[in-house]
Amino acid sequence: MRDEILDLKDCGKIAVMGGTFDPIHYGHLVAAETVRHRLGIEKVLFIPTGRPPHKNNRSVEHDEHRYLMTVLATANNPYFNVSRIEIDRPGLTYTIDTIQSLKKICSDETEIFFITGADAINEILTWKKVGELLKICNFVAVTRPGYDKISLMNNMKNVQKNYEMNLTFIEVPALAISSTDIRNRVIAEIPIKYLLPDEVEQYIMKFELYKTPFENKPFFTFINQKLHIVLTPKRFAHTQGVAGEAVNLAKVWGISVEKAYIAGLLHDCAKDFNEEETLRLCSEYDVELDEIIKRQIYLAHSFLGAALAEKEYLVTDSEILNAIKYHTTGRAQMSFLEKIIYIADMIEPNRPFYSGIDDIRKEAYKNIDKAVYIALKQTIDFNTEKNRTIHPLSILALNYYENHFKEELL
Ligand SMILES: [Fe+2]
Ligand SMILES: [Fe+2]
Repeated sequence: MRDEILDLKDCGKIAVMGGTFDPIHYGHLVAAETVRHRLGIEKVLFIPTGRPPHKNNRSVEHDEHRYLMTVLATANNPYFNVSRIEIDRPGLTYTIDTIQSLKKICSDETEIFFITGADAINEILTWKKVGELLKICNFVAVTRPGYDKISLMNNMKNVQKNYEMNLTFIEVPALAISSTDIRNRVIAEIPIKYLLPDEVEQYIMKFELYKTPFENKPFFTFINQKLHIVLTPKRFAHTQGVAGEAVNLAKVWGISVEKAYIAGLLHDCAKDFNEEETLRLCSEYDVELDEIIKRQIYLAHSFLGAALAEKEYLVTDSEILNAIKYHTTGRAQMSFLEKIIYIADMIEPNRPFYSGIDDIRKEAYKNIDKAVYIALKQTIDFNTEKNRTIHPLSILALNYYENHFKEELL
């Protein structure tokens, strides 16, 4: 382990900059430098996270890669250091453990500041031993311009009612850069230059991070490039999650992984159009919409998506097109690929937790029909609760699976 943190004894003020740094980019660096300058911090410690309890289960690049990229990015700033303290600690990572370890190697007078994003600050009450943490550590919330600071401060009043909290807000324009967007760009082969230090960019290219050899085919890159333009970064990440999950399911159930990957990538290719654009494109591509879809226009994206996949993404395979077309409603007698996309959409690793997701995840790899049945039932119950009209295709699908698998499933 590097002994970079041993010289903290003489520091009056240190700051901890935590994050997955997957990868580290100029947003992180500008935030840390701004805080250092504004608060007169003598050392900023970048601490790549280990295994945080609240994060979703998106696979994080190997710890060593994240650590080394952080070292490369911070090397030319004498005020910045990188610590392995969280990476090397076994088990789940809690901020309180990190700060307590630092306290031991600082002098009693050293003030510790914890720099974090405004969203994380919002969740502070869920952190382990929050009372103790707030006693031994000051917090700096960095926000991008335009962030709703007033409502955040109101939330913080609840925290401050119960605890004494020392909190400073600092606005950092470069925070609009995001690691998710950088990973998305790598997949779509879109430049990442000027978003992060050259050394980190070269490291990503050298070790081919964020893109598997399987994803490297020119046709896949063509699809990803187009998707990167029409989808929001969040939807693009969801799309990658669905494609990856579909590939895993395809391997288990013995169907074409390429078809699963393409269908997963394109299933939501029409989801980020507004109502007007959706209706215009539906009429341009002769996608007929029934009354239920017209009243609940979000349902149109799967039917329009199938048309766009054919006309704009040059997919000719009818199995792939049907998997896209029926991924929202489902239908009776779905093909294996249709079932896989329907399920992958609901269980991909970026999906926020909902009750029942674990059951569907488990069954998806054991009994795919049971997974489809549970997923259909859950979706129909959810939409009924929201007073939405259930599409007849979904009702027929549920009846089909209920009748055909009743004994086997229950
Ligand atoms: Fe969808
Ligand atoms: Fe989706």
